[in-house]
Amino acid sequence: MRQFIQHGSTSTYDHCESVAQLSFWLNRRLKLRAEERELIRAAFLHDFYLYDWHVPDGSHRLHGFSHPHTAAENAKRVFGISGSEAEDIESHMWPLTITKLPRRREGWIICLADKICAIREII
Ligand SMILES: [Fe+2]
Ligand SMILES: [Fe+2]
Repeated sequence: MRQFIQHGSTSTYDHCESVAQLSFWLNRRLKLRAEERELIRAAFLHDFYLYDWHVPDGSHRLHGFSHPHTAAENAKRVFGISGSEAEDIESHMWPLTITKLPRRREGWIICLADKICAIREII
């Protein structure tokens, strides 16, 4: 994740670390009562898709739509994350992935934190 660029000059690893930190902060600060370990695990792995999306390649043509599923599958295989954590990862691109609505507070926090971090990195 450190070798791939996410947005601007930010690596995927640094982006995921920022999303995990902001998710943690939002949860504590706003007293959202998300389960912390699950929240941080899913936040840190939400973009664990392991390729450079800037390089044109048929295997990730619809990156925006497909990478949440790829990341969730990789995270299940490598780290044995739970089904709920996988759902949080799968729903982080909502509303782009219109049918993948976050189903619990952990998913909503990650979805929001991801957008805030992405905008900050792009700007
Ligand atoms: Fe993503
Ligand atoms: Fe992200």
